[in-house]
Amino acid sequence: MNPPSPHRAEAATVRISAKAGQFTESVIREMTRLALQYNAINLSQGFPDFPAPAEIKRAAQEAIAADINQYAITWGAKSLRNAIAEKFQRWQGITIDPEREITVCCGSTEAMMSSMMAIINPGDEVVVFEPFYENYGPDAILSGATPRFVKLRPPDWAFNPAELAAAFSSATKAIILNTPNNPTGKVFERAELESIRDLCVRWNAYAITDEIYEHMLYDGAEHISMATLDGMRERTITINALSKTYSVTGWRVGWAIAAPEVTSAIRKVHDFLTVGAAAPLQEAGALALKFPASYYETLASDYLARRDRLLGILMGAGFHCFKPHGAYYIMTDISSFGFPDDITFAKYLVKEIGIAAVPGSSFYQNPADGRAHLRFTFCKTEKTFQAAAERLRKLKPGRAASSK
Ligand SMILES: Cc1ncc(COP(=O)(O)O)c(C=O)c1O
Repeated sequence: MNPPSPHRAEAATVRISAKAGQFTESVIREMTRLALQYNAINLSQGFPDFPAPAEIKRAAQEAIAADINQYAITWGAKSLRNAIAEKFQRWQGITIDPEREITVCCGSTEAMMSSMMAIINPGDEVVVFEPFYENYGPDAILSGATPRFVKLRPPDWAFNPAELAAAFSSATKAIILNTPNNPTGKVFERAELESIRDLCVRWNAYAITDEIYEHMLYDGAEHISMATLDGMRERTITINALSKTYSVTGWRVGWAIAAPEVTSAIRKVHDFLTVGAAAPLQEAGALALKFPASYYETLASDYLARRDRLLGILMGAGFHCFKPHGAYYIMTDISSFGFPDDITFAKYLVKEIGIAAVPGSSFYQNPADGRAHLRFTFCKTEKTFQAAAERLRKLKPGRAASSK
């Protein structure tokens, strides 16, 4: 008789990491899958359903034809880094060194992750405004940071300065700031940025600023980069991407701008995470960043019209809307519809009405805090709005529509 094989089949026990066990799949991207499953109109995930500018599509095709098909320099093609530096100078008046202060990554998503992994040590705390773009939670867990949440409260999504001050301590390594903000549409004002700056200086903390909606501004709102504030040039990691400004969310090209010592740490993490972003698309990005001011003016005015269109549709359907001054989302209050929570309502909307939106709880650490909210995106065509308006007629409003 043969001895038992050391490799005999035994039930494999699940041994996933504690980190991966701490967060769920993206609710936003799950809503997109449900939208496909139920043939619903997708007003959940923030990607345009209209074409990207013809010039940059052509530039990408030409780059591939010219055989720019091998690895770019790991921290970014020189042409793109030069264009990023030149645009930052033109729009924010800051001179940066493209050789030592920029890391091109696979979208701002990777730029955020590489930046966090480059600066976080076990025990470090990161201050995060809440509601927050859902990636920041897993970003904190994966990098090993402990998040400290500070509430932005409707209707203006203002924060309480005392609460913010209380969240900072000697354990604080950074604050994550997203302006213009997803999901609230808040655009942080100078006085607010200054109070954040004062805390960063006092506690020697970094500001990691996600500025990917910088050109989507309404009602006279102004985008101020944190790096332009006195004392913040060296403390800020500015994150941006091609995704939203040029309607190419699938290209996955973003970047982090930071002081040279911080950049060398980000570059090392980035290199071993992904090696680099798509080489031909970086070349097309270099062209996009040179678009004249008129491109950004048209972008903002087109989005303003889309915002007002969706506000009208949602209010007409009985949603209470918080009017956004930036980015391309509308947060709503759904209390009047009488559903027990946001998830139940979102599922009803996608299955029975045929509209996908994002449950508010996905933007909060404690789901109960977001149970009265649903987020809709307006980066969509008129055809989509018309279809959405038609479907929402089936929804029974609980009370008179209103907007703040
Ligand atoms: C605030 C914010 N940051 C980052 C991203 C992702 O950007 P990217 O496509 O550049 O990775 C999104 C996408 O919706 C976002 O809303």
